[in-house]
Amino acid sequence: MTTSEHEAAVASAATPTGAGDSDTNGLSRRDVLQLAGSAVFVFGVPTGTAQAATSSGEEAFAMASVRLTVNGETRQLELDPRQSLLDVLRETLDLTGTKKGCNQGACGACTVLLNGKRIVSCLTLAAMHDGAEIETIEGLANGDELHPLQAAFVDHDGLQCGFCTPGQIMSGLGCIAEGHAGSPEEIQFWMSGNICRCGAYPGIVAAIADAAGRA
Ligand code: FES
Ligand code: FES
Repeated sequence: MTTSEHEAAVASAATPTGAGDSDTNGLSRRDVLQLAGSAVFVFGVPTGTAQAATSSGEEAFAMASVRLTVNGETRQLELDPRQSLLDVLRETLDLTGTKKGCNQGACGACTVLLNGKRIVSCLTLAAMHDGAEIETIEGLANGDELHPLQAAFVDHDGLQCGFCTPGQIMSGLGCIAEGHAGSPEEIQFWMSGNICRCGAYPGIVAAIADAAGRA
């Protein structure tokens, strides 16, 4: 399966059973999500990022000046305030290890650590996190030496195609740091937001349990 096919498969899987394109009120699922996104923007964009009307009547958005420290490197960025952190990582900073699956907060493929806490970067506006510290999969290894959790994923065959793996590992780090890796059942519960279409769950749980024991 190609990457694009896989991304389409993951996006497809994220649509809840029975959620069709249109409801009885004539609003499609996409319409509702777009309205929700607009609401997040209207209420969530920090001061200093103004919205103005151009002479053509189109809305124009001032760029937001945002400082992010990503994997220990501080970057000063001029961003469209509507950009998700996921898009900033992948398209502005070229850190494509963080994957875009559903882009709707449903699959966990885009999980990164923001100030030490795991978040889904597709639902996070980068402009709202000026000064934040971000950790992505690219920041874990020390040269050729894998992070212990990365090594545990290899040891326990915690992956097949690998598409979900960066998100699983970043979420696993959060799970361990939160103290939620005390048993396989606890790991399964607290990792339930990270979907693996290949079904590599036994290896994923074993890897996190192993790394938690070493930590
Ligand atoms: S891409 Fe699926 S949760 Fe973000
Ligand atoms: S989706 Fe293929 S390894 Fe998880």
